[in-house]
Amino acid sequence: MRGTKRFRLARPIAAALGAVLLVGGLAACGNSDTGGDGGDDGKLVLGFSQVGAESGWRTANTTSVKEAAAAAGIELKFDDAQQKQENQIKAIRNFIQQKVDVIAFSPVVESGWDTVLKEARDADIPVILTDRAVDSADKTLYKTFLGSDFVKEGRLSGVWLIEHKKDATGDVNIVELQGTTGSAPANDRKKGFAEAIAADPKLKIVASQSGDFTRAGGKQVMEQFLKANPKIDVLFAHNDDMGLGALEAITAAGKVPGKDITIITIDAVRDGMQALADGKFNFIAECSPLLGPQLMDLAKKVHAGETVPPRIETEETTFTQEQAKEALPNRKY
Ligand code: AHR
Repeated sequence: MRGTKRFRLARPIAAALGAVLLVGGLAACGNSDTGGDGGDDGKLVLGFSQVGAESGWRTANTTSVKEAAAAAGIELKFDDAQQKQENQIKAIRNFIQQKVDVIAFSPVVESGWDTVLKEARDADIPVILTDRAVDSADKTLYKTFLGSDFVKEGRLSGVWLIEHKKDATGDVNIVELQGTTGSAPANDRKKGFAEAIAADPKLKIVASQSGDFTRAGGKQVMEQFLKANPKIDVLFAHNDDMGLGALEAITAAGKVPGKDITIITIDAVRDGMQALADGKFNFIAECSPLLGPQLMDLAKKVHAGETVPPRIETEETTFTQEQAKEALPNRKY
């Protein structure tokens, strides 16, 4: 083009600049444990984008994935998205650039994945959704979903509450601590619980807000709930961690958790089970984080071009206080 000067960088400078750009690009993408092209030793390479480290459940899930990859002889490229969708999208694009064999990820929220999933499909890299689903209408964008039935977890919590409060007279005021806004577990657990308690008109949700699945969030939102609502009979927390944070707020407000306020949570991680066994929680619907071995099995299958079921659900149970006392000594996470 006329008037445009063309520059040519000396080769060593261009190489150094290229290296800086590459490192910068990878660093921009959350916390990656490994980088660069892998698989030279013939191992299957799995790129895994984790939501973050927001809860005890998440920590147990990360451990399960890392241990299972090592046991299965799979090279894992692990990325922690720190609860941000943009980090997950960058991580997936990096995995595509690195030509990994399979991509798995646990989507922080349900919407907004179509573009990057199309990029993975165009690059011929199969994608596995683990733990959380996406709301894409095009089901060919991923091979399978591995995880829990979150609606069922919410429903089981509501069904237990109906029985627990069957003899109560007058309104039963419920506050709800939701998980991360827009995430599949927050949407589905809310839905399942609301559908179940609709069977008993005295059960009323008087406040519902996100605590982002963290202890700090649970504590802070519960403090607000306690200030704004003079009579709270039940707390339904979408995970143990928010319930544990809420315990601090409830105790500080001079109330006895598990007695003055009935507490229902989801997950059944060790700290939650301890609170249940101690009588501070009343009921937990289990959500298993131990997805690693099944994920590795699926990664091998989709890489080999085998057809896998479109949805694989984890087997889960529920716990009362007595059941928690029994199960706690053998709880693995
Ligand atoms: O997606 C699973 C949920 O995410 C767990 O219930 C919660 O603890 C986590 O943060």
